[in-house]
Amino acid sequence: MRTRTHTAGQLREEHIGQEVRLCGWVHARREQSAELVFVDVRDRYGITQLVFDAEDTSPELPKQAKGVHLEDVVGAKGVVRARERVNKKIPTGGVEVLVTELEVLSRTVSPPLIASDEQNLPAEETRLKYRYLDLRRPKMQEIIRTRHRVTKLARDYFDEQGFLEIETPCLTRSTPEGARDYLVPSRQQPGMWYALPQSPQIFKQILMVAGCDRYLQICRCFRDEDPRADRQAEFTQIDCELSFVDRETVLGVMEGFAKRVWNEVLGYEAGDFPRITYKEAMDRFGIDRPDTRYGLELVDVSDLAAKTDFKVFTEALEKDRGVVKAIRVPGGAAKLTRKITDGYSKFVQDFGAGGVPVTKVAGVTLEAGIAKFVEPIAGELIDRLGAKDGDTILFGADTYSTCSKALGELRQRVARDMEMIPEGAWNFLWVIDFPMFEFDEETGRFYAMHHPFTAPSDEELERFMGADPSDRETIESIVSDGYDLVCNGSEIGGGSIRIHRQDVQKKVFELLGISDEEARLKFSFLLDALSFGAPPHGGIAFGLDRLIMHLAGTDNIRDVIAFPKTQTGADLMCEAPNVVDEEQLGELHVKSTARARTD
Ligand code: AMO
Repeated sequence: MRTRTHTAGQLREEHIGQEVRLCGWVHARREQSAELVFVDVRDRYGITQLVFDAEDTSPELPKQAKGVHLEDVVGAKGVVRARERVNKKIPTGGVEVLVTELEVLSRTVSPPLIASDEQNLPAEETRLKYRYLDLRRPKMQEIIRTRHRVTKLARDYFDEQGFLEIETPCLTRSTPEGARDYLVPSRQQPGMWYALPQSPQIFKQILMVAGCDRYLQICRCFRDEDPRADRQAEFTQIDCELSFVDRETVLGVMEGFAKRVWNEVLGYEAGDFPRITYKEAMDRFGIDRPDTRYGLELVDVSDLAAKTDFKVFTEALEKDRGVVKAIRVPGGAAKLTRKITDGYSKFVQDFGAGGVPVTKVAGVTLEAGIAKFVEPIAGELIDRLGAKDGDTILFGADTYSTCSKALGELRQRVARDMEMIPEGAWNFLWVIDFPMFEFDEETGRFYAMHHPFTAPSDEELERFMGADPSDRETIESIVSDGYDLVCNGSEIGGGSIRIHRQDVQKKVFELLGISDEEARLKFSFLLDALSFGAPPHGGIAFGLDRLIMHLAGTDNIRDVIAFPKTQTGADLMCEAPNVVDEEQLGELHVKSTARARTD
């Protein structure tokens, strides 16, 4: 019985009386008595109850049903009948199949994971090793469906908007998104290497030069960096590029896509997305992807701090670009115990800050923590922060960048501790006006904040072209035409208007300290293309995995990828990466210096 007449999600009252064949996995089994056994059969489409009733059929059938195990694959023939007790929780709950013939198509030997048992999921390692069992879980099936819907929606939406889906190579050369490359040795050209693309960035720009006008690709990107909760080394982008556009056009088309996805998948009607400049985001939230579902904004109190003798404040203010900032936590005094706020001091050390001075509002004055040090400014501080009785005030005192980073991260943790994050809220926003470059103190050089093909904003072009490579202040102040789309504090997309003039592109390389020779070596094809008639263009890439994380309500990126990798980049199911034999390495002209793990 390898075929079925209906799926396990299909039968309804209208099928009552019909003879059907169902196939699927045993989801649950209940033995009411020796004569009456129920088996739920499950497939991708749903669950249907099978009845094995000695009285209505034969005594053999309940006996046979008792012999099936959870996750066995079975085929059953029988007649659809109305259920005595309707199960309103499932769409097939009004009917059941009175089985006349049962066949076990495939046995399951003590599975390490039972799809129906959400309460007793094994450790994630086991889930990943036996991913096929894990993916059987209705929750995971739902995520796979959502992912399919979103990619289909992307294809439909962008098709309506005139985009063409074009594939670009995976075996290519290094692309500058700022991460480490995955390399593939060439057999045919000894000593030469391909790199897997960190994104199709240069290809999509070249497609604009090629006159393709509007490009879409749902593409795999490879970045050899440590995974995080929302980051995988191998991930998927919905990648777009458009010709003859300005920022407004790109943001409009892309906002339309995000709204359509949320509307069609969640039934959520998003309003127009607000915009915030990078500077404002950093000033108010300490981060370039602010979560605006709650307050806890950073307030600059440097001028007030300067009036105190509190060493932590005065020393911070003496630093280059030193600041003191405060966060008011409404009602914090009752919830944020000393133990919790001590924990905050440790927490911010990971972000380079020394600690978190704390005080509380009591009536119209301050008490506890650093109250005595800030006494002279208590009234002004309370006024500036709009603080009320029972609030906690947290401080950051350091350079602007360390203080922003530490308080920006702390703010998110406090919001969780205070349970301030509203359920079901969707806060989208565009972050715009990013700086073109950021200076790295360690290496003493500039890096492109987005990537080196991002254009300066039109108003900045003249200042940019005239900038002297040694003039750090000017270079740091130049604003680009880049943008990020942020949803509930996570960056779900990023892009920019690109440089379409060779002289402007060369200037970026100059400011990045990339010599003409190096630029030609790495990007000659792009520079050539820019000299053969490049249209003004711009684009964006959405992180597909991150979109699905939001839509599926999970904060683990591995949940939304069918075959993800672990923290150490391993696929536990197929055991990749793995050793290869010497002969294969020889063909690729590669000799390994590492001793492979043999356990
Ligand atoms: P960017 O590097 O910002 O831009 O990537 C675009 C979006 O991809 C997602 N993303 C990731 N998702 C999961 N794991 C990762 N390691 C990961 N890295 C990035 C994020 C991000 O917003 N070529 C440019 C796009 C452009 O300029 O058009 C690019 O790749 O959601």
